[in-house]
Amino acid sequence: MNSNSHGRIGMGLLMAGSLAVVPSARSWAETAPVAEPAPARVAQANPAETARPKLDVPYVPTPMNVVEEMLRLTNVNKNDMVYDLGCGDGRIVVTAAKEHGARGLGVDIDPERIRESRENAKEAGVTDKVQFLQKDLFTMDIRPATVMTMYLLPSVNLKLRPKLFRDLRPGTRIVSHDFDMGSWQPDKETQVSGPFRQHNLYYWVIPANAAGEWTLQLPKSAGGQKRTLRLRQRFQQVSGTMSAGDRTLPIRDAKMTGDRLTFTVADDAGNPNTSMTFEGRVNGSTLKGNLVSRKGSAITKSAVTARRTRAGAIELSEESRSR
Ligand SMILES: C[S@@+](CC[C@H](N)C(=O)[O-])C[C@H]1O[C@@H](n2cnc3c(N)ncnc32)[C@H](O)[C@@H]1O
Repeated sequence: MNSNSHGRIGMGLLMAGSLAVVPSARSWAETAPVAEPAPARVAQANPAETARPKLDVPYVPTPMNVVEEMLRLTNVNKNDMVYDLGCGDGRIVVTAAKEHGARGLGVDIDPERIRESRENAKEAGVTDKVQFLQKDLFTMDIRPATVMTMYLLPSVNLKLRPKLFRDLRPGTRIVSHDFDMGSWQPDKETQVSGPFRQHNLYYWVIPANAAGEWTLQLPKSAGGQKRTLRLRQRFQQVSGTMSAGDRTLPIRDAKMTGDRLTFTVADDAGNPNTSMTFEGRVNGSTLKGNLVSRKGSAITKSAVTARRTRAGAIELSEESRSR
């Protein structure tokens, strides 16, 4: 894992679909737009290597300064379990352990990469914190992860997306190097200068499921009535309505980060200075938090709990793209 080996070859170079063409075109590789390659089929490319595993993504290491930015963006710390799917030489997991005190697990389908990862862990003195497994990332048990790092391909990210939503706990942070997740918009996006080109980083937090119908008892200070909250959720985007007597009001400025939900409901009489803002957490069928009511300059804050009376599902399909 010396610095000369870090990310000399961009994923863009491998678009031709064969690793054999890589070494001579370094400068082009690093400036070429990053598009999606056909999956590299190493075993087919070289009959002498029929024992080599079939890669869904070619091996291209992330430059070390980009690794550091990935770990900074996800705020990795000693309480984290960092998973790198397709871990290459293990640099992300090893750095997370060595520099941030995290535990980690790297998985790669290529035994050569796993050998390198284990050597790098030994050299860095973090073998007690990290583990490397030769496995297919699609069949990997990812449930223990609190941070997920990926440098894969757009099609692989999309194929993984349902698994991430199914298996990861709300609040799990994900960072992907260079490739997004289709219509699942990132919570943050940034660029980092590497030795040869700009690298894109995309960051998401797995949201809790708030979809469905909830019954909310307003505090006395806000009228004391029962309200019905109907929420729809597409990835982390929440929209919906709250009943107010015989009227239905849209919720505004809804934001879901992990299990934290906030939204505002304006006054049903259209008074611009009167509104209610909910800030709280989703925990299964309970929504618990505070309701801040504003009436002109008077602000009151009261604890509220809502119960889910009808469960809904998070919409995860790619078809209804909103981008
Ligand atoms: C672009 S490299 C990223 C390496 C490392 N994560 C990094 O950022 O430096 C992708 C890695 O995924 C591995 N890989 C490809 N297909 C895989 C699969 N189905 N299961 C597990 N690993 C795979 C490759 O062997 C390669 O090491």
